[in-house]
Amino acid sequence: METITTTAPPSGIDPALVLDFDYYSDPRYTSAGGIPEAMAELRVEAPDVFWSTALGGYWVIQGYDVIIDAAKRTDLFSSSYMRIPPRHELPEPHPSIPLQIDPPDHAAFRAPLTKVFTATQMYKRVGQIRELAVELIDEIAPLGKADFFTAVTEKLPVLIFIDIMGLNKADFRTYRDLAKAAVGERDLDVRYSSIDEALRLLREVIIARTAKPEDDLISYLLELEINGEPVSEDLVLGYCKLLFFAGLDTVANAMAFCMRYLAMDQTLQQRLREEPDKIPHAMEELMRRHAVAPVIRKTMKDENWHGYNVRAGDMVLLNYPAANLDERMFDHADKVDIDRERINHIAFGAGDHRCVGRHLARIEIVVMLEEVMKRIPAFRIEPGKDVPMRGGSVLNIEHLPLVWDPA
Ligand code: HEM
Repeated sequence: METITTTAPPSGIDPALVLDFDYYSDPRYTSAGGIPEAMAELRVEAPDVFWSTALGGYWVIQGYDVIIDAAKRTDLFSSSYMRIPPRHELPEPHPSIPLQIDPPDHAAFRAPLTKVFTATQMYKRVGQIRELAVELIDEIAPLGKADFFTAVTEKLPVLIFIDIMGLNKADFRTYRDLAKAAVGERDLDVRYSSIDEALRLLREVIIARTAKPEDDLISYLLELEINGEPVSEDLVLGYCKLLFFAGLDTVANAMAFCMRYLAMDQTLQQRLREEPDKIPHAMEELMRRHAVAPVIRKTMKDENWHGYNVRAGDMVLLNYPAANLDERMFDHADKVDIDRERINHIAFGAGDHRCVGRHLARIEIVVMLEEVMKRIPAFRIEPGKDVPMRGGSVLNIEHLPLVWDPA
């Protein structure tokens, strides 16, 4: 078991800006009635920046303007080390490429991914995504109830992702469990062993594709040249590691949070059934309200940044889920309002490391919502059942028990 210490705030910080917030399992997540609700409460407590005394002490940045500035200040806030609490005594696992490379080197490593994950390339998969969505939803529609997380939102994006990467479909459950533990498990020993196991499985596929390339992303990565040099197997493993953890947990949970909200808002559901052309816009607003990925940075130097004395070595959480609820940007920010005109949310991050998979994620969520609205009548949370959630680097819904009147 790891020991987690509480750390005194840096000198010069207003005591009113010191809070106790444990982003893995904060008590607010339960007391507020859910993680999205807790994020709204947290914003009222600290609109821009605070120092959390939990998990060894770390800065939490959650104002819309300051978080964008922090994401862009890669000289001050580096993504080369991403652990809260830091455990420098443990050997660092394989770096995630390109996420853990800071600019200016980062651009050359990101380019091969942006080339593959363009909106145009991803739209080519819309038929495949819809076919799978229809199959999964039609399986549960006649039942009148389901754990929508395990039946649909977990399977749809993950099976598509396995296909893009060229991983083994039969290992679906293993991949999911490893990804979940690696991004959300608060015990770093458990987390690191899940990462090790995932790397072992990925390396097996890399070795197989080196011997016999196929039409998949791993084979594509193996053929890359970066800065005029052919990539090494280790570098490909770094790409695969990031894609594995980014692809196997994010969309599934984003979809589940959107569905949970809709299950609690019958008027919005009804409107999306009557006006399906509004679904793409509604997806953006649902994503704004339910960003699932807070991200970590390490401070590289002492600086008075926006009036906060940050120090070299301080860990930082860029709390995108809360920043999207900034009232200075979005009126009545904690409400999903699909009549909002500008939804310039930052659920996919900001700056150089902005999400590469965002076009794919958007298409998958829109298709899922379109097919749900066609195939499942008014749905709600099953009375008497909870929707268990978990914090961490990807906010998780563990089960989503829904009921509806079967056709
Ligand atoms: C709803 C789903 C998703 C959300 C909310 C999300 C969110 C994010 C965020 C916030 C970042 C910035 C990380 C940082 O600054 O430290 C990011 C980066 C990234 N995401 Fe996503 N993501 C999603 C889906 C995906 C998918 C499906 C993939 C892959 C297929 C993906 C691949 C990546 C990659 C490769 C990066 C790193 C980019 C870089 O370092 O330049 N993401 N994502």
